[in-house]
Amino acid sequence: MGKKEKKSNIMLIGFMGSGKSTLGIRLSYKLKLAVKDTDKIIEERENMPISEIFKTKGEGYFRNLETKLLQEISEKKGRCIYSLGGGTPMQLQNQGLICKCGTVFYLKASPETIYERLKGDTTRPLLMCDDPYGRIKELIEYRSPIYERCADHIINVDGREQSDILDEILKILGEPV
Ligand code: S3P
Repeated sequence: MGKKEKKSNIMLIGFMGSGKSTLGIRLSYKLKLAVKDTDKIIEERENMPISEIFKTKGEGYFRNLETKLLQEISEKKGRCIYSLGGGTPMQLQNQGLICKCGTVFYLKASPETIYERLKGDTTRPLLMCDDPYGRIKELIEYRSPIYERCADHIINVDGREQSDILDEILKILGEPV
């Protein structure tokens, strides 16, 4: 465990449905740190759900808000857990900001896992299409190398209990499990 792991924010990245929010909450109990979900912060600030932001203001508008928020986080003092929207690391400028913000964990999940978790979900505008599995597969193939490049640690989540994943992260952080 390096100095970075011990002191800095914990940044959870990964595809929609990879478990960032749930894991963030569990980590927050264990480490007694606040947990913040960037999607939720944006929804509160805009006073509407993400799906509505996409519909009325467009994806580009949302992506700008993500970058602005990351900039704020990178300038903040203190230590928190952040779970980031699945598309946040896709913009080049965000990648540097995410690394600057803290220790980055990529929760890596297969298209099959994501599809099983998200089928029927109506809150993710990018997956509202005729072939959500095909879309998930295509997006993961494109995004996975980018998530990996951004990550300090890659955590495979397929077929694993949350508690097992939590323990792996705690060990990396040098915290008791
Ligand atoms: C997105 C992921 C979503 C949300 C938006 C776009 C993406 O966040 O930011 O719908 O591009 O993958 P979650 O990963 O929290 O679902």
